[in-house]
Amino acid sequence: MSLHEAFVPQPYTQILDQGAVAWQAPSNIALVKYWGKKPVQIPRNPSISLTLDACATRTKLTYAPRESKKEKFELQFFFEGKEKPDFLPKIHTFFERIEPYVPFLKSYRFQIHSENSFPHSSGIASSASSMAAMAMCLADMENQIKGGSADAIDFRKASFLARLGSGSACRSVAGRVVVWGQHKKTSGSSDLYGISWENEADRVFHNYHDTILLIDRGQKEVSSTLGHQLMEGHSYAEKRFAQAHLHLSQIQEAMRTADLDRFATLVELEALTLHAMMMTSTPAYLLMQPNTLAVIRKLEQFRIESGLHPCFTLDAGANVHLLYPEAEKLEVDEFIRSELVEYCENGAYICDKVGNGARKISLEQSHSLTK
Ligand code: DP6
Repeated sequence: MSLHEAFVPQPYTQILDQGAVAWQAPSNIALVKYWGKKPVQIPRNPSISLTLDACATRTKLTYAPRESKKEKFELQFFFEGKEKPDFLPKIHTFFERIEPYVPFLKSYRFQIHSENSFPHSSGIASSASSMAAMAMCLADMENQIKGGSADAIDFRKASFLARLGSGSACRSVAGRVVVWGQHKKTSGSSDLYGISWENEADRVFHNYHDTILLIDRGQKEVSSTLGHQLMEGHSYAEKRFAQAHLHLSQIQEAMRTADLDRFATLVELEALTLHAMMMTSTPAYLLMQPNTLAVIRKLEQFRIESGLHPCFTLDAGANVHLLYPEAEKLEVDEFIRSELVEYCENGAYICDKVGNGARKISLEQSHSLTK
């Protein structure tokens, strides 16, 4: 049996009455970056991330059985209370990819209500949190169809499904520290789903902070999907993929031993490498803004002067994620307020930290999702 087949369920023996489930899933920030993939949603290299807390998507899935299984999916999508048909093609693609693993999808009519905790046009990608929240709803629903108890929900399968929606989403199911992608030195690692690496990391990382400086709240000019494609045939691709394996081993060592200097060096090298790949793609593109660089320069200076350990990382955009330990929060927050806020668009930034991963929310809690 291939690994994929392990996620194909036995035929279902019951159909649920009309009902609903609701889940909240956080965003995550990669330390070693996933950049480059092969079909279907298989990463070219392993990655590791911190699961966030405040930046999250809440999703409620309502379902009603159809008279018979039909040819096409039947679904409506609402974002922050408003129906958004333009989001449907992405969800249809997701449903088509996951249907072999959750073959109940054509037996029900669905309404999906979704909202984000973070502001519109913050430049924060919501695909990880939104796909993870949706995957959790479906894994929960499947568990109910199978008659499983509440604690029998298969989180590994949820991560597997989330990956088929957006690669990084598979790292938004488990809490704190997650590894995704096969890596020799990480036992249990898989290209198909993320695994928790929380217990291996020193406790200092269990409540690390991530302050997201919103440098450019505009739309991303180049989608991650296109960015991944540009890694195919990229002159530096093979070296980069090999380097990611090495960086993962090295970051893991720094996280095991709480070597914060080494951690900072590697995290920043990964961020700059990600952007170096973009700058050397064909066509080449540049997502950093002058203020991204200004923040990085200020941070270098602050680190030397203070002897503290904040470091930066970047996603596929201009925003800067500032990572630092709980024990340095007072000084780093003061530094952000006095020296970095001026580089943020409208002075905006988001204070987040490492969190517990996806969690079920009550239907009352998700009430706002139907307004
Ligand atoms: C730069 O997960 O958004 O954030 O699989 O095409 O949905 P798709 O890509 P996505 O890529 C994330 C890229 C990144 C690095 C990372 O999170 O590892």
